Amino acid sequence: MGIWNDKVLPRLIDRGMRREALEEHRYRAAPLATGRVLELGVGSGLNFPHYGDAVEHLFALEPSEHLRAVAEEPAAEVTFGVDFLDASAEAIPLDTGEIDTVVSSWTLCSIPDLESSLQEIRRVLKPAGKLVFIEHGRSPDPRVAGWQDRLVPLSTRLLGCSLNRPMDTLIKDAGFNMLELETNYLEGPKLLAYHYIGRARPA
Ligand SMILES: C[S@@+](CC[C@H](N)C(=O)[O-])C[C@H]1O[C@@H](n2cnc3c(N)ncnc32)[C@H](O)[C@@H]1O
Repeated sequence: MGIWNDKVLPRLIDRGMRREALEEHRYRAAPLATGRVLELGVGSGLNFPHYGDAVEHLFALEPSEHLRAVAEEPAAEVTFGVDFLDASAEAIPLDTGEIDTVVSSWTLCSIPDLESSLQEIRRVLKPAGKLVFIEHGRSPDPRVAGWQDRLVPLSTRLLGCSLNRPMDTLIKDAGFNMLELETNYLEGPKLLAYHYIGRARPA
């Protein structure tokens, strides 16, 4: 799995995340970021052009060396400072309460220990800080959810993606108040298309 995870999968992620169908939804998360921002799993840095003037500094966390290298190009185009963090979201190398906004776009499905990661997000956020997210996850349709459950062992091994996470419940159970939440199918295969888009604040 070394070559797959280190070389092949990051290239697939780079290509897959550039799809037009996703690009047109990027305005729903990154532009809401303000102040000192932490983006989880920045991938190829596709959100960077969508950040607005209210961003003071971006901490760009990404465990893949290949994707960090790809993201350096869009990072050079922005007007605020960018620090790349070679880290995993389960152990964020930032101080407690130093972040105004955590941004996650299609990343919470990829983090193996999401519970620990959500605790870390809470820890680094200021009390009035916010988590903004656009994530795919568990479908409310039992037939689709059943297939998501069945396919998770495969999707996790091959793509590092847990298809069946009920993102709203997981975020609330980790001690966040939901400020805004939209759930709906976006375009694409139903297994991947049910989305959770919103903002949450540490309770
Ligand atoms: C589907 S991609 C999304 C990339 C990017 N957020 C975007 O919107 O294009 C998932 C990302 O999560 C990253 N990732 C995987 N495991 C992670 C972890 N434990 N902590 C943080 N990021 C992780 C992957 O390397 C990848 O960049």
